[in-house]
Amino acid sequence: MSLFCVRSIILAQLQTMNKQMPKKFSDALLAWYDANGRTLPFRTHPNPYHIWISEIMLQQTRMDTVLPYFERFVQAVPTIKDLANLPDDKLLKLWQGLGYYSRAKNLKKTAAILCAQHGGRLPSDIKELAKLPGIGPYTAGAIASIAFGKKNAAIDGNVLRVITRITANDGDIADKKTKNAVENFILQVMPEGRSGDFNQALMELGALICLANTTPKCSECPLSFCCEAYEKNLIDLIPVKKAKPCRKIEKKTVFILRCDEEYALRQRPSDGLLSSLFEFYNVEGHLGKAACRQHLVQQNMQVSDITPLPNAKHIFTHLEWHMQGYDVALMQKPPCEALVWAKKEEIQKIYSVPSAFKAYLKHLSSSSGFNSAT
Ligand code: ADE
Ligand code: SF4
Repeated sequence: MSLFCVRSIILAQLQTMNKQMPKKFSDALLAWYDANGRTLPFRTHPNPYHIWISEIMLQQTRMDTVLPYFERFVQAVPTIKDLANLPDDKLLKLWQGLGYYSRAKNLKKTAAILCAQHGGRLPSDIKELAKLPGIGPYTAGAIASIAFGKKNAAIDGNVLRVITRITANDGDIADKKTKNAVENFILQVMPEGRSGDFNQALMELGALICLANTTPKCSECPLSFCCEAYEKNLIDLIPVKKAKPCRKIEKKTVFILRCDEEYALRQRPSDGLLSSLFEFYNVEGHLGKAACRQHLVQQNMQVSDITPLPNAKHIFTHLEWHMQGYDVALMQKPPCEALVWAKKEEIQKIYSVPSAFKAYLKHLSSSSGFNSAT
């Protein structure tokens, strides 16, 4: 056989392998997903509104945290129209504890736009979806594929990890070029007809098998047969992530002011970090007990007792709060208009206090101030 003949046979074989590869890939992934995918409320009864809400909640929050919030939210706010008309305080209360509150505010803004411009429904086109507040490329792809069966990719951190490993792509996963390569790969292997399941299967594989921060379970992986990182022993080196710039650290002293079984809260400004949410009275810097007393006296507060509380830390995307806490019993409520006074039960039911103050919220006790043992 001539050299030319051998070469054309090999080329033909390569071409058939490449042609079969997408089908083998998607069959293996979907069979695994059908057998192992979690049963989730927004999967059992798929509905574009539910898929949108769940995807927004899942943007920065783990699945097990999201599930009870999701159930409560769609029960309290069953339609897009209800969401557009939901008072802000109710919205924030439903979101309290999930963090990243701009997500909740964008949900309501988008609901209003959908009612005004889209007949109260989500559009199915990825470009239209991506124009809406709070909906970036990932969420637009997720809604278009899962709710409407559109052949769009939905690339979150899990999917980036899985696909960069499968293709042994050692580009920085924050780079547009790496994301584009991942998207091209996905669109080549995505089957007709099950794009939503396919995207969710990739996310699920990232969450259950191709793990971050610990050894992936390659021996249980349905895609190990075509995973280049596995084959070349590169799983510890991929994905490549550039180190993030350090977060700014802010020190705070947080006062749990109490008087007659009521606690003082203060509403944060209507823009910026944690806007419009309620917080405990606090000042910049870490103050010792004597400095605390002096500060409070300057604010016309009559202090009967100050007890230090454990320190607490809260981490935001670009910022860390390092908090020192004090339980402060006041003899009477100061004439300060910025403070609202509420009983523990009212704080739980009515006021949205962000999880940044979780450590201090935990210490509220219905009768005698604080129980430092818990
Ligand atoms: N993360 C975000 N959306 C998800 C989904 N639909 N399934 C699994 N993980 C997800
Ligand atoms: Fe991830 Fe291992 Fe599967 Fe490759 S074989 S996709 S590294 S779990």
